[in-house]
Amino acid sequence: MKKTVLVAGGTGYIGSHTAVELIQKGYNVVIADSLENSEITVLDGIEKITGVKPQFEELDLSERESCLGLFKKYSNIDAVIHFAAYKAVGESVDFPLKYYRNNLNSLMNILEGMKLVGTNNLVFSSSCTVYGQPDLLPVTEKTDIQEANSPYGNTKQISEEIIRDFLNVNKNQKAIALRYFNPIGAHASALIGELPIGVPNNLVPFITQTVAGLRQELSVFGDDYNTPDGSAVRDYIHVVDLAKAHVVAIDRMLEDKNKAQLEYFNLGTGNGVSVLECIESFEKVTGLKVPHKIVGRRAGDIEQIWANTSYANDELGWKAELGIDDCMLSAWNWEKNIRNIK
Ligand code: NAD
Ligand code: WQD
Repeated sequence: MKKTVLVAGGTGYIGSHTAVELIQKGYNVVIADSLENSEITVLDGIEKITGVKPQFEELDLSERESCLGLFKKYSNIDAVIHFAAYKAVGESVDFPLKYYRNNLNSLMNILEGMKLVGTNNLVFSSSCTVYGQPDLLPVTEKTDIQEANSPYGNTKQISEEIIRDFLNVNKNQKAIALRYFNPIGAHASALIGELPIGVPNNLVPFITQTVAGLRQELSVFGDDYNTPDGSAVRDYIHVVDLAKAHVVAIDRMLEDKNKAQLEYFNLGTGNGVSVLECIESFEKVTGLKVPHKIVGRRAGDIEQIWANTSYANDELGWKAELGIDDCMLSAWNWEKNIRNIK
């Protein structure tokens, strides 16, 4: 019998790519999403890629009754992947309660729903933001968690603590927290990808929108960092590699291969790439210029971070396979598709 995975936030950027990989691996997928930061048409993209349209429920998971109702309706769910959260760091500084309310209530309601129907396996979207600017690079799963520098980051830290405390008294429950580094790129089909609302905060959608003519030029935030070319360094991971790691995590839980009731994995490539190298890669793979200027540092940005991926590689048997060039080309193909650029 096919196993069923509830993908909370599954019409979103990472969730939709994960839904594709789950379906292609033979899982039955149920998506629950409020559509607050995604479009219903994403389901068509998933169907075109996989030949399967996932079951879909539109609801706000931060509303307790709706969320519990979902679990009662789908009491056959074997595992949950919880992507549903707000994720804009700057917005979270301006509207902290909005972030705490949505991100924490959704998680708590999901845990309560899982307990209610006896679904015991949770994969949670965490973030490298929990490490802040680490003293030592690359970052391992044992690197100290630093005080969060935004309410968004704090919701990820508190969420990990909520899961820990919940598992402590629910011994049959298991969870894997995946700490993503910087997810970018799009599906190779260009049928799903990132759909930022308004002006993008993140680097890659800003680059693609600038080249597509929606923005005048990219501002490179700082060239005076202590990095090889002076611009800030991140570990950019292709969203399809990231999605595949979720399938591996689900397999691991359902096949009872976990070593511990609660596990944490860094999901990155292990390589640091600078902002200027991102631009260079984009220009190389597309043959197009990225209009850009150097400006001052962005408040709250860290200088550099990249992952030590040994634990995920060895323990999960998963490794990121795609590099920055694949990321940039797929991101551009997706942008071209949604803007009807030939
Ligand atoms: P996204 O905004 O594209 O997807 C999140 C989805 O959740 C959206 O479709 C949104 O409509 C939905 N959602 C939000 N609140 C909801 C609620 N209360 N009820 C139902 N649906 C709700 O974001 P993403 O980039 O796919 O991120 C997915 C997860 O990964 C988030 O938890 C995010 O914090 C985490 N994460 C993202 C990144 C990144 O850079 N994209 C990095 C690290 C961690
Ligand atoms: C990348 C680099 C910018 C835009 C954020 C969250 C983090 C995680 C991933 C969720 C930085 C530079 C950017 C631009 C630029 N999300 N940049 N010009 O800040 O590393 O991480 O997303 O958990 O928590 O903070 O990602 O894409 O915004 O920036 O120069 O217009 O690109 O300064 O060095 P970031 P990003």
